[in-house]
Amino acid sequence: MAEVVIENLVKRFGQDALAVDNISFTVREGEFVTLLGPSGCGKTTTLRCIAGLETPNEGDILIGGELFTSSAKGICLPPEKRHLGMVFQSYAIWPHMSVAENVAYGLQAQRTPRAEITERVKKALDLVGLEGLGDRNATKLSGGQQQRVSLARALAYNPRVLLFDEPLSNLDAKLRERMRLELANLVKELKITSVYVTHDQAEAMVMSDRIIVMKDGRIQQEGNPHATYNEPANSFVADFIGVANIMEGKAAEGDSASGVWVEIPDLGARLLCSSGAREGVQAGADVLITVRPEYILLAENGAADQNRLEGEVREAVYLGETWDCLIQVKDYSLRVHVRGDAELRPGQSVSMAISPAKCVLLKD
Ligand SMILES: Nc1ncnc2c1ncn2[C@@H]1O[C@H](COP(=O)(O)OP(=O)(O)O)[C@@H](O)[C@H]1O
Ligand SMILES: [Mg+2]
Repeated sequence: MAEVVIENLVKRFGQDALAVDNISFTVREGEFVTLLGPSGCGKTTTLRCIAGLETPNEGDILIGGELFTSSAKGICLPPEKRHLGMVFQSYAIWPHMSVAENVAYGLQAQRTPRAEITERVKKALDLVGLEGLGDRNATKLSGGQQQRVSLARALAYNPRVLLFDEPLSNLDAKLRERMRLELANLVKELKITSVYVTHDQAEAMVMSDRIIVMKDGRIQQEGNPHATYNEPANSFVADFIGVANIMEGKAAEGDSASGVWVEIPDLGARLLCSSGAREGVQAGADVLITVRPEYILLAENGAADQNRLEGEVREAVYLGETWDCLIQVKDYSLRVHVRGDAELRPGQSVSMAISPAKCVLLKD
C-alpha cells in the first residue's frame, strides 16, 4: 500500500501527438481515484506510465515516496520492479490453464515458493468470491467470473497499488452494475490504493473517493463525486457528467455575499448564482452558468421566491419516478426533471423556482 504522486507528466507519441499534457495529481494511501474522460483523452497512457509500460517524455512518478519514474534523472523502473497489480478490460486469461494456474502465473514468474503460491492463490480466490473453483478451466467461466480471476491474479501479488483500465466494459449492463460496488467495496476493505480508469461517468460516481476528469490529455477537474456533480468547473465537466442546462449570460453586478446576479438574455430573466466560480466576477463580465434538471422545481403561482421562471411545457416524457421535460422559457428550452406524481401535459404553463445554491458559475 502506498501513495501515488504524479508530477508534470507529459507523454507524446511521435512529433506532435500529445497524449498526456502536463498532468499532476496525488492518490493518497488507500484512496480509490478514478480517471474519467472520453475515449482518447489520455487515461490509459497515464495508467501505463504509472505501471512502467510507457516511458513519459517529462515528469516524475513517486510511489510510496520512492522515485519510480523521473525523466529528468533518467529513471524508469521496469513494471516487474514496481509491485503493482493491473486489471484490464480484456481479462488476459490463459486459455489452457486452470483458474488457480492463471492466478498463480505471475507468482511463479517471480519464483515465489510453491507452498506460499498455493496459499496466496487460495486467499485471492476467496476474496473475489471464487472459492472452490481453482481447478476449473478458466475459459469455461462466465465473463464476470473471468474478470474476478484477473482481479484475483492482481491481488495475489500483494500489490502496493492496484491499476484498473476499464475492467468492467466487456460485461453486460446488469453484471457491470453489480460488479461496480463489489469491486470498489473489496479494494476499500483491503485498503489498497487504487487508480481506476473509465469513460463511464456512472461507474466513476459510484466507485470513487475522488474523480479526476480529463479531456485532451489535461485535467479538467478533481474532486469527490458530490462536488464534481454539483459544482462542475466548466461546461465540459457539466456536460460530461449527468445532464446540464448551460446558459450564457452577463454579470449584472460583481460577486457579493449572496452571489452573482446574472442576466440571461435567452431566458429573459436574471438568476442569482451562489455556486461555482464566483470569485473575482466583475459587473458586465460574460459568464456561463449551469443548472441540473432536477434542481429546477415547479413552484406555486404567486410565491415570491428568487430565481422564478415562467415557461410552457413543450415535451414531457413519463419515466415513472420522474417526468423528463423540456420547458420553453423565452428562447431557451430548459431540461427539467419533475417528480412523477405531478400532472403535466404539453402546452401547460408552469412556474419554476431554482435555488441560487444550485445555479453554478462555470470557469469557461
Ligand atoms: N502507442 C500509441 N501510439 C500512438 N498514439 C497513441 C498510442 N497510444 C495512445 N495514443 C494516442 O494518445 C491519445 C490518448 O490515448 P489513450 O491514453 O489510449 O486514451 P484513453 O485511454 O483515454 O482512451 C489518443 O489520441 C491515442 O490515439
Ligand atoms: Mg483507454
